[in-house]
Amino acid sequence: SAVSQIRIYEVGVRDGLQNEAKFVPTEMKVELINKLAAAGIKDIESASFVSPKWVKQMSDGSEVMKTLKRVPGVNYPVLIPNIKGYEIAKKCDIEEVAIFPSGSEGFSQKNLNCSMAEGLERFREVAEQAVKDGKRVRGYVSCIVGCPYDGPIAPKTIAKGGAWPGFLREDISIITEYIIVPTNIQNGHALPRTGSSYPTPQAQIAGKPQESSRLSEQLLDMGCYEVSLGDTIGVGTAGSVRKLMKEVLSVATPDKFALHFHDTYGQGLSNLLAGLEFGITTVDSSISGLGGCPYARGATGNLATEDLVYLLYGLGVNTHIDLVKLMEAGRCISNFLGKPTDSRVNRALGDR
Ligand code: HMG
Ligand code: MG
Repeated sequence: SAVSQIRIYEVGVRDGLQNEAKFVPTEMKVELINKLAAAGIKDIESASFVSPKWVKQMSDGSEVMKTLKRVPGVNYPVLIPNIKGYEIAKKCDIEEVAIFPSGSEGFSQKNLNCSMAEGLERFREVAEQAVKDGKRVRGYVSCIVGCPYDGPIAPKTIAKGGAWPGFLREDISIITEYIIVPTNIQNGHALPRTGSSYPTPQAQIAGKPQESSRLSEQLLDMGCYEVSLGDTIGVGTAGSVRKLMKEVLSVATPDKFALHFHDTYGQGLSNLLAGLEFGITTVDSSISGLGGCPYARGATGNLATEDLVYLLYGLGVNTHIDLVKLMEAGRCISNFLGKPTDSRVNRALGDR
């Protein structure tokens, strides 16, 4: 089916910068937001109101929201972990909040310091208040295809032991069959599997996609206008995305979902294309491919916005985005951070 229109939800300022060790001054964050809006991006997640003790980089959320130049028609959502964060954000004239329950127990503990169930209750409280206040609410489900703490979500065969890099070489088709999480791999080396807390892959295969569907359903019930499905550590493939889409589309129509792919394994664009085939029309991406989560070790940036726009041009989708201005925004922040861009398109076209 032809893809006609895609909404790009930019997460670089939040998901991107939260992972940077060097503090990015408020003015720089605001400049980036303004440049993204000038390039034609209509949804820019601009700050998070998480605990400053947890993510120092995001501690200037109020200043960012108060200084950015609001362009009519542009949406500037903010990420909210709890009611305390919501109350602070509310003073900054916000219109949309994003809540983010974890799709796995381990990540919930590390990222939110509470269980999945507690997290969901906290987010319910935020959503209820925000809806009452007339704000839009967006929900994220993280770790949709893999968790950095809860062990692999893998085909049965992988459970039979052995290091999976060797296994991968033997039968690459298995990768696309389902989902692989390399928790037993560090720095390219396979680690022995240990511990009885390690959930069996069979249980996870049975459980995980349902978890995403269940959480999605609950988020929609709470009043979220859409659920962004986050492959937090970027381990998904087109194969696992297809399976996931079949699951989640049993609870709601494609317009209720967005896709949020981290590009750790270089699968971002093909995962996206797999999702678009199911009728998804909102995609999260990050300028210059910035990003990751400080509580998901090894996760790298999101699918780069420049690369996404280039793909959409190729698909004949009118994005109304000025790719040249977008690339300038990407180079501006990459130069500031003192590192090369992670956008392949920006790299290819950048020096002309
Ligand atoms: P906690 O330490 O358990 O919080 O953290 P607490 O409720 O026990 O409070 C401890 C202290 O923090 C108290 O202060 C609170 O007032 C304060 P004290 O009394 O000690 O002076 N506090 C706050 N201050 C400011 N703003 C707040 C706030 N909340 C508490 N909102 C908490 C629990 C959830 C706050 C913490 O774990 C946290 O901030 N976690 C967020 C971590 C984060 O930002 N991760 C990255 C975003 S998620 C992501 O990137 C994934 C995503 O992109 C999707 C994907 O990729 O799949 C969305
Ligand atoms: Mg993310």
